[in-house]
Amino acid sequence: MKRGIYPGSFDPITNGHLDVMLRAEQLFDEVVIAVAHNDQKSPLFSEEERVALIEETVAGHDRIKVTSFDGLLVNFARDQGASALVRGIRALSDFEFEFQMALMNRKLAPNLETIFLMPKEEYSYISSRMVKEIARLQGDITEFVPKNVQKALLSKLA
Ligand code: PNS
Repeated sequence: MKRGIYPGSFDPITNGHLDVMLRAEQLFDEVVIAVAHNDQKSPLFSEEERVALIEETVAGHDRIKVTSFDGLLVNFARDQGASALVRGIRALSDFEFEFQMALMNRKLAPNLETIFLMPKEEYSYISSRMVKEIARLQGDITEFVPKNVQKALLSKLA
């Protein structure tokens, strides 16, 4: 069974993340969405909230599992028996960091591939950070995140 891991902060999940998840679903028997604990980033949503928001968003997609992880990603991937990591690339500006992370992960775990997927162009400018800022400033985020996430953001920031 081919298992892919899509790791990230997902604070919160956006339509761009969802697009990448659905593309990964076409490539693997099972896709594990791995929500990083990420204390350093002081996320707006708790780990449990981020997992729950993704679970609601991908409900009905039985081959997409959602969980959180702490520690080194490559160790988590090994424990899951994964064959590849999946990361989304939106623009050239993402590339440098992603390239560095992929090569570092390859050094740590030579048999674990990183696969980059591009979301639909219409999602290429969306980021969780901007969505949070727009929501904080009472802007309209309808087009950028799933409905449940929009609701959660509005109640979190109320
Ligand atoms: O959505 P993000 O914040 O860009 O995701 C970054 C993430 C969580 C994938 C990255 O920070 C990570 O893998 N963290 C786990 C710790 C780890 O393995 N660090 C070494 C990466 S080379």
